[in-house]
Amino acid sequence: MPRRVVIDSGETEDDCLPEPVPVVLTPEEDNVLRPKTMSEMIGQRKVFERLEISIRAAKKRKEPLGHILLDGPPGLGKTTFATCIPRELGVSIQIGNGATLKSPKDVVPYLTNAAEGSILFIDEIHRMQKSVEEFLYPAMEDFRIDLTLGEGVNARTMNIPLKPFTLIGATTRSGLISAPLRDRFQLREHLDFYSIDELAQIVRRNAGKLNIRIDDDAAYEIAFRSRGTPRLANNRLRWVRDYADAQANGAISLAVALEALEMQGIDKLGLDPQDRKYLETMLRVFQGGPVGIEAVAHTMCADTGTLEDEVEPFLLISELVIRTPKGRCLTEKGYRHLGTVPAAAGNNGSPLPLSEY
Ligand SMILES: Nc1ncnc2c1ncn2[C@@H]1O[C@H](COP(=O)(O)OP(=O)(O)O)[C@@H](O)[C@H]1O
Ligand SMILES: [Mg+2]
Repeated sequence: MPRRVVIDSGETEDDCLPEPVPVVLTPEEDNVLRPKTMSEMIGQRKVFERLEISIRAAKKRKEPLGHILLDGPPGLGKTTFATCIPRELGVSIQIGNGATLKSPKDVVPYLTNAAEGSILFIDEIHRMQKSVEEFLYPAMEDFRIDLTLGEGVNARTMNIPLKPFTLIGATTRSGLISAPLRDRFQLREHLDFYSIDELAQIVRRNAGKLNIRIDDDAAYEIAFRSRGTPRLANNRLRWVRDYADAQANGAISLAVALEALEMQGIDKLGLDPQDRKYLETMLRVFQGGPVGIEAVAHTMCADTGTLEDEVEPFLLISELVIRTPKGRCLTEKGYRHLGTVPAAAGNNGSPLPLSEY
């Protein structure tokens, strides 16, 4: 069922359209910490500037914004951009998920419900079935859908015109998006990990929103241990607040933040137990690689997709692991993070005595 969120009270609605389904954003989509406007967003300046120009131009020309594809690891702001853009434009948004769009009939209500200039946001767009994707091509390009009625010799095609709308697709796996679909997005934006300064700014601002007293060095420590990801910074902040409430006087000092993060198994680089398990499996079972991702996933009893989407991107950007044509390998930094050195450097992968690192 399509979900429509009326973001602007002056939403244009057409009586002929199927009844829109009133929507409430899920807590994840509308949490109190999520920026409500693009100007509230921190970081991603280049993406912000390009989107802002397109939004200004669309408003000036009174035309719908071109279709936008947002890609990047989880928690970096794809949904936030997608929910802020309609607010900037003063239009409504419908939110769907590629995983639930199994056949063209699943996407038809979204398309016929789309008001002029409104946003259709499809999260996890790479999970959409091929038949849905092909059905979307004329909708994206010519604002038209082609329905086939009947079967065999009696089959006929009906072309239904749509109101011009903007599709925003979000994906953690841009590699899985077919070239024809990718080419139909006028803007393609990749979201990168955030800097420590940007995350510290997010932590401080969100501490304010949650009425938390936090020292600057504690905010920095949380930022430093958040894997470059605002969602994790928010999660860690909430956990540290719980810890401070339960174990201290509610205020977050550096010492309290460190104790709380340590208790959660977050290490100095911000890696959590799952990240470390991945590195340790590579070291212990595969002698540091090269090894295929499936082999690591099977050994860890983890899902390959989760490792690729959620675990690997930060380990790669942190240069703890590299991808080679033969498979994943631990880097020297990766070995050292696990307290050892590569076998070629005279060690068989067993931990070094503390004095050596
Ligand atoms: N640029 C940003 N500035 C401030 N907070 C952000 C920013 N991007 C994301 N966040 C925070 O991180 C959370 C997760 O972001 P989200 O947009 O849901 O990520 P994604 O859809 O890419 O997985 C949001 O609820 C919001 O609180
Ligand atoms: Mg999202």
